Amino acid sequence: MPETLAKNGVVETKAADAAKTAVPAVSAVSANGASANGTVPTGLPPDGVKPAETKPAEAKPKAKKWFLDSLKEQWEAHVAKNKTQAEASKAGEAAGKTIQAAVADDKISAAERQEVLQAEKVFNEGLASIRDLIAPSAMDIEYDKIKLSGMYVKSMHVFTYPRYLDTNWMSPIVNFDATMDIAQFIYPIDSAAIMKVLRRKVAQMQSSIRMDTEKGNVRDPAIETALQDAEQLRTELQRGQEKFFQFAMYITIYAKSRKSLQKQSKHIESLLGGKLILTRGTELQCEQAFNSTLPLCLDELGVVRNMNTSPLSSTFPFTTASLTSNDGILYGLNRHNDSLIIFDRFSLENANSVVFAKSGAGKSYAVKLEVLRSLMFGTDVIIIDPENEYENLTQTVGGTYLKVSLTSDRRINPFDLPKPIKDEEVQPGDLLRSNIINLQGLLKIMLGQMTPLEDSLLDKALNDVYRIKGITMDLVDPSDKTPPTMEDLESILSSMEGAQSLAQRLQKFTTGTYGGIFNKPTNVNLESGLMVFCIRDLEDALRPIAMYVILNYIWTRIRTELKRRILIVDEAWSIMQHEDSAKFLFGLVKRARKYYLGVTTITQDVEDFVNNGYGKPIITNSSMQLLLKQAPSAMEVLTKIFNLTEGEKYMLLNSGVGQGLFFAGLKHVAIQVIASFAEDKLVTTNPEEVLKAKGQ
Ligand SMILES: Nc1ncnc2c1ncn2[C@@H]1O[C@H](COP(=O)(O)OP(=O)(O)OP(=O)(O)O)[C@@H](O)[C@H]1O
Ligand SMILES: [Mg+2]
Repeated sequence: MPETLAKNGVVETKAADAAKTAVPAVSAVSANGASANGTVPTGLPPDGVKPAETKPAEAKPKAKKWFLDSLKEQWEAHVAKNKTQAEASKAGEAAGKTIQAAVADDKISAAERQEVLQAEKVFNEGLASIRDLIAPSAMDIEYDKIKLSGMYVKSMHVFTYPRYLDTNWMSPIVNFDATMDIAQFIYPIDSAAIMKVLRRKVAQMQSSIRMDTEKGNVRDPAIETALQDAEQLRTELQRGQEKFFQFAMYITIYAKSRKSLQKQSKHIESLLGGKLILTRGTELQCEQAFNSTLPLCLDELGVVRNMNTSPLSSTFPFTTASLTSNDGILYGLNRHNDSLIIFDRFSLENANSVVFAKSGAGKSYAVKLEVLRSLMFGTDVIIIDPENEYENLTQTVGGTYLKVSLTSDRRINPFDLPKPIKDEEVQPGDLLRSNIINLQGLLKIMLGQMTPLEDSLLDKALNDVYRIKGITMDLVDPSDKTPPTMEDLESILSSMEGAQSLAQRLQKFTTGTYGGIFNKPTNVNLESGLMVFCIRDLEDALRPIAMYVILNYIWTRIRTELKRRILIVDEAWSIMQHEDSAKFLFGLVKRARKYYLGVTTITQDVEDFVNNGYGKPIITNSSMQLLLKQAPSAMEVLTKIFNLTEGEKYMLLNSGVGQGLFFAGLKHVAIQVIASFAEDKLVTTNPEEVLKAKGQ
């Protein structure tokens, strides 16, 4: 039996160790004169022999001399007895070694060591340990069970497995509601040895098949199957694809009464039996079986079955949701089982995601990694960046970084007209009409309250300003014409009767303080794969206007061409503060799916976000959610919204940077966000590292 081989292996080494330690012990005992009584040398000093240090110092040379003499006599007798030269020389070597060992060994220290060890043992026996506390006072070992401190204990072992085992077959047993211990022993077997056995078996089976054929018997499918299995195993072992093991599994059940013990063991037996895994009680070996299921790594039963790697792997009792798919990008490592979380957010019912964590927990880091990896697969990304964090990343990937502020020299003209939507029939004037409506909305924010007269004057002025540039309602595709600017509108308004007030108010944005930002032709490349709008330096008074322009631009762009896109709104709480932009974001999240868009909303303040009327629906409409380290104060709200379990709550509170929970639809996994060295350089916001990178 291979496991006995293994056991023998252990015994052998132990014996070898004992032999090694016994050598000096023999000499020590002999030096004390004990061997004169003919005592068998054992490593311990024989009873009545006083330790060496109590001997007078002068006795030592005498003893040594006597010992040497006696050895010499033995040696001579031996030589006389064995006449052949070869044997004599071997024995001479051995005796020589013993003498050297005896001389070289420090006998006193050995004896001292023994004494100290003995004393320590006696002392330790007197200490109360945890074992004294938990040990039962007695065990009543019966024929088929054990009575242990008022509990009834019964064990069973698995004696046969089916030809095929499915993954996670252990899970119903592990999750079975009963007190029990399960022990699994796995003995690795040397492949070379098993190959020899298999070879012999294959030869036997082949010859019996041949004999059957020669005799004209009907073929035996059982032998043929066994032969195929053996041959396949031989091939896989040879190629190193599989390894060979022996596997033992024991279950010990604990119950308060005989009846419930009987019931539970029957239940487990039938659970396993349903999977063709057959078990048997350990009658007359109850104690051994009980010992084998204690956490002592002690297999006293030794009921093993052969298994190669693949079926053995199915005995792993815990399985976790794995989020590894063939498509998509790497989000991180699954902390349950170290598998990779590779996932395509567009495979969910909607591609929106929310990221919640406290400041510095790694929200932006995780999202930036997603951006980098998504860009590689041809997904366009648009980012609203309130912290000027994404500039480095944008430059590296050749994206467009648009700083929206008064001092910036990059502009978007709100009068720009989009291209007609591809593959969709557009009526003449549609694009112009919808853009005029958008501009009316924008101008309302810019100019404040308007009277109904002013409203209609503005509408006329907008139509006129486009007409001057040759853009009229009968054009289908006006995108190749140069659009007007805010200044053109102002001059039209000032020439219109009753629109003076409007023109004056608009002056602020053309020649006034806020001039420049909205009244110049667009001078940025709006076609690149990554577009970032930085709104950090935006003056507070201009923020709602700029957001209107930006969000409108994004919306138009998304509708114009159907393409895989991700829109990222970092620090979303700052946008949610303004009713207009909050409403717009909410609308976008709801409609995004139809336009092949995934909206990522990142925020620190869960409570603020949820309390805002638009926050909750944004979360509900996001199939992917990433929760990283949380502040205890945010836990209550999060638990309610995400239905977190106690374990998940604990995990979020105790996560490190970049660790958390990843929800994709109904699947929850613990995630560790990881970046390569080069990625880390690009996406870090660590001020120290950012400074270092700038210095280079
Ligand atoms: N997975 C990670 N591995 C290594 N370092 C990380 C990881 N995630 C984040 N960091 C580091 O932690 C720091 C904070 O990360 P990040 O900027 O992403 O935080 P944040 O959650 O966006 O914070 P804030 O809400 O203040 O913007 C950065 O210096 C970043 O380099
Ligand atoms: Mg951040």
